[in-house]
This record gives sequence, structure tokens and C-alpha cells, in this order.
Amino acid sequence: MHLTVGRVAGLAGVSVRTLHHYDEIGLVQPSARTAAGYRAYSAGDVERLREVLAYRRLGFGLREIVDLVDDPTTDAVAHLHRLRGLLLEQRDRAAAMVTAIDRELEARAMGIRTTPEEQLKVFGAQLYEAIGSAYPATRRTEPRIAARIWDALGDARTVLNVGAGTGSYEPPDRDVTAVEPSAVMRALRPAGAAPCVAAAAESLPFEDQSFDAALAFSTVHHWHDPIAGLRELRRVARRVVVFTHDASDTGWRHRFWLTRDYLPEVAGLVAGRPSVDQLARAIGARLEPVLIPWDCADGFFEAYWRRPEAYLEEQVRRAISVWTRVGPEAEQRAVRTLRDDLSSGRWAERNRELDALDAAELGLRLLVA
Ligand SMILES: C[S@@+](CC[C@H](N)C(=O)[O-])C[C@H]1O[C@@H](n2cnc3c(N)ncnc32)[C@H](O)[C@@H]1O
Repeated sequence: MHLTVGRVAGLAGVSVRTLHHYDEIGLVQPSARTAAGYRAYSAGDVERLREVLAYRRLGFGLREIVDLVDDPTTDAVAHLHRLRGLLLEQRDRAAAMVTAIDRELEARAMGIRTTPEEQLKVFGAQLYEAIGSAYPATRRTEPRIAARIWDALGDARTVLNVGAGTGSYEPPDRDVTAVEPSAVMRALRPAGAAPCVAAAAESLPFEDQSFDAALAFSTVHHWHDPIAGLRELRRVARRVVVFTHDASDTGWRHRFWLTRDYLPEVAGLVAGRPSVDQLARAIGARLEPVLIPWDCADGFFEAYWRRPEAYLEEQVRRAISVWTRVGPEAEQRAVRTLRDDLSSGRWAERNRELDALDAAELGLRLLVA
């Protein structure tokens, strides 16, 4: 038995236009047509629509939903399990947000001003629930940095990638297990990526020494307790490789024009975080500087140091957590000032020496223990 597009729209609570659009982009295509050429939906089509709408309500973009519902390894029951898990996580997040709002209301009643970061109440994995879907647009493997990481992993055969995100630095020739607390980031992992466990660095669900090596790339600064997290990596693996920036070093913030001239608020974000030396000491690691190539392929915060126009692009900023963490006011001011300075030639005048550099030392470090 088939249903007309109007009937399906009515039942699903969406417009006929939405269903036409889903059909045009191949998301939910009715499997039949009536004799008069109208769309006719089968029970299977309706089931697929239900999955699509559920993912949509959870905040996934249409492109991601295509990958999710077309995943050949996932049947209807698996989808229901996945949706149920995501909804429970959403319920927990909503409860946490109510608590955060109550706290802010209390603080305001007492006349205490909260920082943009406190207002957002989006730390660590929660932050990635909010911004994660923008990540894949510009965040990808930078081969020169990947080569350093894979080299530091030595002859490790089994690798645990903690705070794995979409897995940009997972070595293709080893047996990788990923750990990622954000459901949004887990859902963005490409088909065929290493298996991923929902957990946080501070409490890893693995026995002591279960892996040859543990990797943490560009994630430690999001952890609630970085030292506890690194000790967990140390506990479960014989070797630990970490790529992070030096939160305590004011040197790079003065060297990097973006933080020095446009976004001084970054100092507030890193205040109180352990220094890279403290992190290294906690696990007995050696430190190596990592220079950032001028054409770095992975769009992290420092990546565009010689390509300032990139920071004017919304999609570049949305894939860099700092821009969300400083709050919209600071972001808009920084972008406006940078745009003005680029068009007046002021930026070029101030940063003339960068043209001669192919790589920059901006406080990024490899820790190897
Ligand atoms: C900047 S992304 C890096 C992702 C990936 N390592 C990469 O390089 O593409 C930071 C990741 O750390 C994760 N994260 C946040 N808090 C975490 C925690 N406590 N333990 C493990 N991962 C965490 C976030 O959900 C996010 O996916």
C-alpha cells in the first residue's frame, strides 16, 4: 500500500515542499508513482523518512543524514538503538543546561558577571555537540604533521586515539581504536573509520597496558582534567603521543598577530590551564616543537597565520572552537577589525616579515612519553 505525498506530509508534520526537496536530493525518494505521475510512498519509504526526521531533530545536517541512513551496516533496529542513545544524551545535555542556567540566574541575581565561556556553558565534549557539525568542512589531515605523529608512534601496532573526532590523524597501517565523547563527532566519522568508543580521556574503559600507544591530537585543551586524562593514557598504553599548544606560554600569543592584535580574549580562555611543561612532567614526556607550514591543510586556530583572509570566512571560524568560546561580541569585533586592516593595508604593513616564512613556531608541541 502506498501513501500520497500530502498524506505523508500530514502524518509526519512536515510540508509537501520539504518532501519534494528530500526527493530531489535523494534523501527520501518515494519508491513508486501513481498512474497520474504523483509521488507514492511505501511503508519502507515512510520508515526512512521517520529516521531522517529524527536525525534532523537531533541537529544533524542533511548531508550527514544521507551518510547515516545510507550506512549499509545499519539496519532499522540499529538505527532505533542509535537514535535512542542520542536522545538519552540529548536529555542529559538538556538537564545539564537547565542546571547551568539556574547557576547563571543565581549569579546574576547576586550581581556577578559571567564570562562568555561560562554563559555558553559549553566545555569539552559539550562544545563539540554544538559546533561539531561544522568541523569536517576545513579540518582534515595535514600530511607533514601526520608524518611526525606516526613517526612518534614508533613500531606501535595497536593505537588508541583519544578525543578522536573525525579521526584525521589515525594511522592507516595500524590497528586503531578511537575514543570520542561527543555523539555529534562520532556520527561524523567517515564510513570505514576505526571503531569508536563513547568515553572521555579522564576515565578510559580499558585495562592497564591494553595498547602499544595512545594518541591525543588537538584535544587536551578541551579536557576537564588534562593531567588526569594524560595519566589515563599512560595507564592504558606503553607509549603516549600528544599534540597540543602551550597554554601558559605568552610568547606565542604575542608572536601570533591574531591573538596579539585581534583576539586578546584567548588569554582568558587558557588562564589556569596547565602549562605544556606540567603536562609533560605528569607523564614523563619529552617535548618537541612543531612548526606550522604556511599552507597547513588542517584548519586549526593557528593554521592560517600567513593566509589572514581565511579568518574572515564563517566556515573556517566555525570549525575552530576558540571563535565560539570567545563569544559573538569578541568574534564580530575581531573579524571587523581584521577586514578593515586587510583592506587598508595595515595588516600587510605590520606583518611584512611573514611573507618570507614557510613555517612558523606558534607554541605547538609534540609530547612523547
Ligand atoms: C579539536 S577536536 C580534535 C579532534 C581530532 N583529534 C582531530 O585532530 O581532528 C577536539 C575533540 O576532543 C573531544 N573531547 C572533548 N573533551 C574530551 C574529553 N574529556 N576526553 C576526550 N575527548 C574530548 C571533542 O569532543 C572533540 O572531538
